[in-house]
Amino acid sequence: MIETEGETLAGGSVILARLAGSRWPLLASAAAIGALGLAGEVAPLWQALAFAGVAAVAGLAPRRTVRRRKNETEAAAVIGLDGHPARELAEAVPDPLIVFDRHGMITNANTAARTAFGKLDAGTLLTLRFRTPELQGLVAQLLAGTGVPPLSGDYAERVPIERWFRVSGAPLGQGSGLFVLVFKDQSEMRRIDRMRSDFIANASHELRTPLASIAGFVETLRGPARNDAKARDQFLQIMQTQTGRMARLIDDLLSLSRLEMKSFSAPAEPLDLKALIDGVLDALRHLAAESGVTIEKVYPAEPVALRGMRDELIQVFENLLENAIKYGQNGKRVVVTVETGQGAAGPRVTVRDFGPGIPEEHIPRLTERFYRVDVNTSRTQKGTGLGLAIVKHILTRHDARLTIRSTLGEGAAFTVQFPGK
Ligand SMILES: Nc1ncnc2c1ncn2[C@@H]1O[C@H](COP(=O)(O)OP(=O)(O)OP(=O)(O)O)[C@@H](O)[C@H]1O
Ligand SMILES: [Mg+2]
Repeated sequence: MIETEGETLAGGSVILARLAGSRWPLLASAAAIGALGLAGEVAPLWQALAFAGVAAVAGLAPRRTVRRRKNETEAAAVIGLDGHPARELAEAVPDPLIVFDRHGMITNANTAARTAFGKLDAGTLLTLRFRTPELQGLVAQLLAGTGVPPLSGDYAERVPIERWFRVSGAPLGQGSGLFVLVFKDQSEMRRIDRMRSDFIANASHELRTPLASIAGFVETLRGPARNDAKARDQFLQIMQTQTGRMARLIDDLLSLSRLEMKSFSAPAEPLDLKALIDGVLDALRHLAAESGVTIEKVYPAEPVALRGMRDELIQVFENLLENAIKYGQNGKRVVVTVETGQGAAGPRVTVRDFGPGIPEEHIPRLTERFYRVDVNTSRTQKGTGLGLAIVKHILTRHDARLTIRSTLGEGAAFTVQFPGK
């Protein structure tokens, strides 16, 4: 009611109220006109007419209502948080934060917002900068005052890189005419989610292939090959290979998940690297002989001491040597070089083969789960594509680094560099 005070009073009382409201300018004009009369400058009739004119203007002119004054206060608020302690608060928020007014115009954007979205000048229409229907809907809802704040929605930016945000919006206090949007970056979570679902899809695919082959042979054995002893033997042999592959895959998956669950505490078992690798070579002697590969050792004379997890490091060298034998078998030799640490660097082990090598574009991706240069070659070698992912995981836990170098046609070298003491 107060805000339209003038309009709540009827007819003549409105004019009276306006006159009362303008009493100070009226008195001042009357005094001025009277003074001019006393000085004999203006005739009394003109004096009376001038006074009536001033009074009429004062009475009829619309009064500066409380509503207008309120609008002016709001107009000042379009400056947003400037000069207000809330501005520092907004700056201190690590997530992108944008304040906008009831016209949907940006009034403030904190540094995180400008870093994430670039220029966000005050006075820009929010919906021109953030054009997705979801965000436009969110802003419209906030401005209309529908829904229970905080309202939230998703917002994605595709360029220069894909980023996902969860946006929450709410009015800023009561009656300020300002609203706030806070953007929470969800890109990393989305990436992990995608990796997880890719991983499950890959794992199921890898399991489905041998399973389908086993199911097919079971059907043949129960049907057309029921009485064929030779075929039965051959099929059972294939089925055994396929079950072996499935078991291997499950072992690898369990190994990875166990590694992921382990804490990052420093591994502390004292080991002799030469003895550890000799153990692995013993276990692989059979595979090497079968593949026609001879293994050469280049070891230093003194023991190479290391602190680490024995079982995990055995897994590392088992996979590197097995890969060298399997994929580099036409090179006929594999060289394992062990070097003691020098200066800040710790011991170093290089497994080198003389096979076909690895095309450069594949090298950075080899440690990804299920990544294989040639899926068919790897499958015939009973590979699952998880070996190097496990290696990378274990080495990270040991603070060690894996470097892969290769020249096509000349072979590949996998080097493990352990940290110094
Ligand atoms: N010494 C090598 N020479 C050529 N290619 C290699 C060599 N080592 C690895 N690769 C390539 O890298 C891929 C990934 O190796 P990784 O050890 O992760 O998996 P895998 O050997 O296929 O399966 P798994 O180790 O689980 O049995 C292999 O499939 C192969 O294509
Ligand atoms: Mg392997």
